[in-house]
Amino acid sequence: MESAWQQDWHLARAYLAWQAELGATEAICDAPVNRYDLPDKLAKPAAKPVAAAPVPMPEQPQVDPVAEAQAMAQAAPDLDALHAAMAAYEHCELKRGARNLVFCDGVASARVMIVGEAPGRDEDRVGKPFVGEAGQMLDRMFAAIGMDRAAPDPARALYITNVLPWRPPQNRDPSTEERAMMRPFVLRHIELAAPDILILMGRISASTLLDRDVRITKERGAWQTVLGRPAMPMLHPAYLLRNPAAKREAWADLLSLQAKLREAT
Ligand code: URA
Repeated sequence: MESAWQQDWHLARAYLAWQAELGATEAICDAPVNRYDLPDKLAKPAAKPVAAAPVPMPEQPQVDPVAEAQAMAQAAPDLDALHAAMAAYEHCELKRGARNLVFCDGVASARVMIVGEAPGRDEDRVGKPFVGEAGQMLDRMFAAIGMDRAAPDPARALYITNVLPWRPPQNRDPSTEERAMMRPFVLRHIELAAPDILILMGRISASTLLDRDVRITKERGAWQTVLGRPAMPMLHPAYLLRNPAAKREAWADLLSLQAKLREAT
């Protein structure tokens, strides 16, 4: 069976850093060595080696991860190219600890696009957004207004993605830097999918796409604009699982979405 740090890159790195902090900075061999048996045991200590002159390191060009993300995202002419560009992007540390890049699920031509926060354990394993417990809640919420991620009719279908395509370790909140560097990709994702309406699912999604701190319990249900499209922040289904009383507000928001869809036909 795999140990915990074999399964998790971030945990393994933290464990290594902790050992180094304790002073365990030398690797040991698999087999024991009796140093008294070594032929040179009586030899005088070797003269201190003369320190080699430091080799000048070539200057590393400064890269701006956000500018690079912007350039890569803008160069993608379609969703497949965007997926490939994200897979080739190397500045986000979350990539190292993730099993899968979680790109999307549902119907790309759907009128409604949902943008969540980041994959959790189940999404990381399966490679699709919102497939765990919160995802099942999301499916039930939208089924209540006749919408479904697998519906063949774009008017009833959903297209789903996240701000972050890689799972943060232990499901922690993505950092400001991680959100900033992945923002150009999710904006391009919206441009390419071109939905009529956006749902900003939860605080992280709303804050990232509106580019300011959103108090989701205050601002849920209030229509905003993102890339020229109506966008509504909603309470995240994981929040609704913890606070079932808030389902009443989510229901009001779903009805508001239904009305907006009618208005926009
Ligand atoms: N929560 C999200 O925001 N996105 C997922 O894909 C899963 C859970």
